[in-house]
Amino acid sequence: MQVLTTIAETRTARAALQGSVGLVPTMGFLHDGHLSLVRAARAENDHVFVSIFVNPTQFGPNEDFATYPRNTDRDLALLRDLGVDYVFMPGLDEMYPAAFEAAVDVGSVAMPLEGAFRPGHFRGVATVVLKLLNIILPDRAYFGRKDAQQLAVIRKMVRDLDLPVDIVAMPTVREPDGFAMSSRNTYLTPEQRKAATILYQALTLALEMWTRGTRDAEAFRSRLRELIEDEELANVDYVSVADPDTLRELERIQGPALVSMAVRIGRTRLIDNVTLGE
Ligand code: PAF
Repeated sequence: MQVLTTIAETRTARAALQGSVGLVPTMGFLHDGHLSLVRAARAENDHVFVSIFVNPTQFGPNEDFATYPRNTDRDLALLRDLGVDYVFMPGLDEMYPAAFEAAVDVGSVAMPLEGAFRPGHFRGVATVVLKLLNIILPDRAYFGRKDAQQLAVIRKMVRDLDLPVDIVAMPTVREPDGFAMSSRNTYLTPEQRKAATILYQALTLALEMWTRGTRDAEAFRSRLRELIEDEELANVDYVSVADPDTLRELERIQGPALVSMAVRIGRTRLIDNVTLGE
């Protein structure tokens, strides 16, 4: 496994490759969710790149860029064990030199939900993902479905800008009690971790309501919100029932519907989702 830190050496390594290339973009502090993306990339491509870059432009001024968890030695050991060929690990100045100014704005899909609570977040995500795609030129790039709006934003960018890459979406990986894996889970105290299972309980309730035949989207939003608010440590930012591609809120569920939520537990903001009627 080769660790690359400059764009120039990464382009040279890429140019020498024949066959298909898979990319798994990450911000490091890898968990089983990331590793499932890497395994899929390994199974489906001749060559696998993983990027590790904690991207400052997708963090708001009061967010956790400085304290975002990092453990590069452990990450590299995990990636080596999975047979990754190249890890692209650029420094800040390599990705954002002093004169850097451009930004990718994908429009309406980036505005609601996470976009409303984290202004500028998706502009940062789309910009860095476009840079990574342009540097590595993968045939396939792998993303987790836990970040459902990020996935919709990236798919929209790829469609609108005619990027020659397949976006592969992989299922959310969960702990035995249903709690979705995330690098930020490390911030939770044991008591908060227990309370955090409320998100999965809410998604389970959504699936039950769907199975029982409920199709009124507002009924989902209000029942799920009530359930989450019963958990004392939980504060709801939003509960949404939206079209999975456009992220527009639905009135009635007729096709697939993305049920998503953001919940603050202490200072940690957790998101999770399920798609109904796929
Ligand atoms: O999902 C993430 O870890 C990040 O948003 C990504 C896609 C690596 C861009 O920085």
